[in-house]
Amino acid sequence: MNNKNILVEQLDKVLVIEISRADKKNALTGLMYEDMTNALNLASNEAQISVVLIKGQNDLFTSGNDVKDFLNRDPNKEPAAIKFLKTISNFKKPVVAAVGGDAIGIGTTMLMHCDLVIAADNARFQLPFVKLGLCPEAASSYLLPQLAGSRIASELLMLGDFFGADKAITAGIINSTCPQELLIEKALSLAKKLANQPTDALITTKSLLKKNQASFVEDVMGEELKEFSRLLGTEASKEIFTAFLEKRPVDINKIHAS
Ligand code: COA
Repeated sequence: MNNKNILVEQLDKVLVIEISRADKKNALTGLMYEDMTNALNLASNEAQISVVLIKGQNDLFTSGNDVKDFLNRDPNKEPAAIKFLKTISNFKKPVVAAVGGDAIGIGTTMLMHCDLVIAADNARFQLPFVKLGLCPEAASSYLLPQLAGSRIASELLMLGDFFGADKAITAGIINSTCPQELLIEKALSLAKKLANQPTDALITTKSLLKKNQASFVEDVMGEELKEFSRLLGTEASKEIFTAFLEKRPVDINKIHAS
């Protein structure tokens, strides 16, 4: 592992991946995506692991991609976030996610690639891409309308406001909620329950469920990435991210320039 911001441990047949960067609200850096990708690859290759559980803490999932990394992104290099998304979207074993507190940006879109998602009843979700001068990623422009219907998908992706666990259930992003203090315990017991199912039947079922959307997901992710990379280079998104890091209001004139 590259650093201590991604903690990995095996509990019975479950590989637990914990996002742990409290001082930056669990914002995800390139190195953290690499560690999560490596952990998924390890789980793929290890016969003793049947299920992966991705979690933060009871009161925080992730504030999304590290904003500094967005500003410093090398346009000629495939971002580590994309490698992670490709890996999780093609991952053959079941993935459970436990969401407490904020799940922003990729914190919400990665859930669309997980099989079961449990959230604390006070979790908050946000797809703030347009607010940030960006567009959807992780094939969310395809997967969210599938899960939520186009009406809710437009609302969540175009307005980019925070929404709560009830709306996340309605939108098909999560399965269930529980009290915050029970989140990790419940998620682990769900992951272990899955891991105790007959392995071949479980993996075959996941494969059948994902089969028809696999090629769309890959194509959409590619199209989104082109636009996302272009938008990252615009004055609007640079101004929005710089203002966030400098803790100052955004210069409105800069974000409406085309
Ligand atoms: N990238 C980089 N740093 C981040 C971050 C992110 N996505 N989210 C939070 N941080 C940092 C803040 O800069 C701050 O750092 P500092 O203590 O060195 O100043 C620290 O984490 C605490 O964040 P702060 O904004 O003070 O906490 P808050 O409780 O007031 O708000 C959030 C929490 C998550 C709502 C807010 O931090 C936020 O909106 N973050 C950005 C989310 C975002 O745009 N993500 C990209 C999605 S595509």
